[in-house]
Amino acid sequence: MKPSSIAPRVQLFVCTNVRAAEDPLKSACGAHGLPVFNALRAEASRLGVSGAVWITRSGCLGHCPRDGCSVVVYPRGGQWTDVRTDDTEALLREAITSNTTPRR
Ligand code: FES
Repeated sequence: MKPSSIAPRVQLFVCTNVRAAEDPLKSACGAHGLPVFNALRAEASRLGVSGAVWITRSGCLGHCPRDGCSVVVYPRGGQWTDVRTDDTEALLREAITSNTTPRR
């Protein structure tokens, strides 16, 4: 094992987990996750930050919202739920801003 020589400044994990219709959690991530993932990638590209902001599809993040999907932002930025495509511009800007390390 060795540390990677590359790392993003910010990484967003977007739940695209698809649950069976009879699953009692009734998560909406299966319906909203992929559109949110694609919208976040498009917005990162539009802003020219794709190299510094990695957007990654993930499995269940534990929130299992019944509306929208879940997004987690690392290293800082929090846990978001009920995320829809019309939230992605604000979410990405918040993720970049909250993960900006002050320069000395
Ligand atoms: S299925 Fe998306 S957070 Fe659980």
